[in-house]
Amino acid sequence: MQFDKPATTNPIDRLKVVGKPIHRIDGPLKVTGSATYAYEWHDPDLAYVYGYPVGAAIAKGHVISIDTQSARSATGVLGVITTLDIGDLPKGEKNTANLFGGSRVQHYHQAVAIVVAETFEQARAAAALVEVVYAAEPGAFDLRAAMPNARTPEPSTEPDSAFGNFEAAFKTAPVTLDAEYTTPDQSHSMIEPHASIAVWDDDAVTVWTSSQMIDWWRSDLAITLGIDKEKVRLMSPFIGGGFGGKLFLRADALLAALASREIGRPVKVALPRPMMPNNTTHRPATIQRIRIGAEADGKISAIGHESWSGDLPGGGPEVAVMQTRLLYAGANRMTSMKLATLDLPEGNAMRAPGEAPGLMALEIAIDEMAEKLGMDPVAFRIANDTQVDPEHPERPFSYRDLVGCLEKGASVFGWDKRQAPGMRREGNWMIGMGVAAAFRNNLVVSSGARIRLDSRGIVTVETDMTDIGTGSYTIIAQTAAEMMGLDVDKVEVKLGDSRFPVSAGSGGQFGANSVTSGVYAACVKLREAVASKLGFNSTDAIFENGEVRSGNRAVPLSEAAGADGLVGEDKMEWGDLTETHQQSTFGAHFVEVGVDVVTGETRIRRMLAVCAAGRILNPITARSQVIGAMTMGVGAALSEELSVDTRYGVFVNHDLALYEVPVHADIPHQDVIFMDETDPYSSPMKAKGVGELGLCGVSAAIANAIHNATGIRVRNYPITLDKLI
Ligand code: MOS
Repeated sequence: MQFDKPATTNPIDRLKVVGKPIHRIDGPLKVTGSATYAYEWHDPDLAYVYGYPVGAAIAKGHVISIDTQSARSATGVLGVITTLDIGDLPKGEKNTANLFGGSRVQHYHQAVAIVVAETFEQARAAAALVEVVYAAEPGAFDLRAAMPNARTPEPSTEPDSAFGNFEAAFKTAPVTLDAEYTTPDQSHSMIEPHASIAVWDDDAVTVWTSSQMIDWWRSDLAITLGIDKEKVRLMSPFIGGGFGGKLFLRADALLAALASREIGRPVKVALPRPMMPNNTTHRPATIQRIRIGAEADGKISAIGHESWSGDLPGGGPEVAVMQTRLLYAGANRMTSMKLATLDLPEGNAMRAPGEAPGLMALEIAIDEMAEKLGMDPVAFRIANDTQVDPEHPERPFSYRDLVGCLEKGASVFGWDKRQAPGMRREGNWMIGMGVAAAFRNNLVVSSGARIRLDSRGIVTVETDMTDIGTGSYTIIAQTAAEMMGLDVDKVEVKLGDSRFPVSAGSGGQFGANSVTSGVYAACVKLREAVASKLGFNSTDAIFENGEVRSGNRAVPLSEAAGADGLVGEDKMEWGDLTETHQQSTFGAHFVEVGVDVVTGETRIRRMLAVCAAGRILNPITARSQVIGAMTMGVGAALSEELSVDTRYGVFVNHDLALYEVPVHADIPHQDVIFMDETDPYSSPMKAKGVGELGLCGVSAAIANAIHNATGIRVRNYPITLDKLI
């Protein structure tokens, strides 16, 4: 099905199941520990063995030799496979660095060997006995030092934009800001580590893994192993968090497949936590310069945003300027991204790539401008709202209610009680409130599904979509139930198997809207099959209460299915509505903090997110995503930072003891409000993504609240105690 005109009334609009606060259908499996995650898959007929990876101890250079003698003779060891034995392997299309194979070392902890043993402990012990001799080369590890060499990147994403005359308008504006902001390297730090089990059957391999994108992984694993894609089956039914770290094929899956092929046994590989930040991808650090000029009445006349980031050769920039192209009005504007070559581990997508770090800077700058103008920060944002893409004024937003989010949030949060910086005190706590706008584009990705109706009247949905903790199982079940006129318990959802139709997968907050639209399309096909079998006209057949009606005939779906059942399969493809209309999601974050006047410790006291993201398919799972994202924003604001050892090119704090993510005790009560809206341009579901929106802007709201509490403006994240005393 092609979606190329605004959605009209359709069965989803009945909202008997869709839009209802239904608890996760996979919840009982998860809370009873019976959901099978990648490393736990167990077939009693198979004799699993364990692989433990060895990561490079240099950041750049070559492996000269690997002595595996002692490791091989250690207890329980079945084999050691080294990167030199394997030789050069083709690289997956979506990987920047090689995952394994050959003598070249591109980054620290790149895999150089895997030790396989009868038990995990034996493999781990023997891995310490592998001796690697390297020829190290000097590398570039310091973004600040590499800035002068940064270049305009390959235009996979348009790296620069310019409209009007920014420089002239900025120069003549009566009120201006020119400031630099920095965001550090960050690590996804999802709870479930990267883990895989590979089992070969002749020349075909099945890999149970933890992947956000089944089809991307399947293609890249086939390329790297040098076998046909049809010979690779990937399974990822349950995932303990992804955050972007599981978008692209990772070393655990490749190492498990290679080791299993070599040893002839099913091999389990989990990346040890201390290898995750350096072996896998991370969010690259940014240096951002923002210049804003405004008239005395608060109208922005010039807005410029430049961002510098680094990556390995062949990599891309952190696209931190994207939101600045769309968020506020202003006739004269420019954005630019520069990319430096760094020999740190691969930079890539993490938790709202681009907009999250971009808004960390932009929304402090907006707060600073409001202060310079003597305007309330909410009022300043509202004064600069735009209903059209400011770079292409002929393109309207499909639906944009940033103003509604800001007004609603201000009223619910009690924004009018906010005082001037440094004026509110409770004992040792300096109290402040901050606000930031939230913005994240609404992407759509082609997505397929297959729906079976059986003689029990049960509908089974099959799609290779994943559920990374977001609620995919549940919203898919709701969609199929609504379309087929069933209760949600009459729908079974099967996900995460490459034998199912290719879906959008989980990424870029495009999953929910794209995938449910694919399920909608497949359900339309199934309704047609049911109607045609019964001799009904599919356009006036009504699917309701477990039966299908036309005229004065009503047939239970179980009966319509017949003994053989019926199947509908289709995929949703997207027309040019995303070209004619700018599709984005909006929100407003309000935060109250306390900062200890003696220690400089910041405590979050209250948080509120107001989100405008089209139809909300399930307010429970959507809220859960938003509060998770708000929590990530607290981490980014206050603690998360990969520390780079610029001598050796390694992230030194590579575990959860030293890379600090927020814990429950750091997070106060969080409120989430969804604006009541539908967007007919987004899909037949009239929904949009909401997951990453909840993160975008939060950290700046915290930084702005800290400024309001203390009068101290910190422009370098994370805002640790030392920056406040
Ligand atoms: Mo997201 S960073 O696209 O998983």
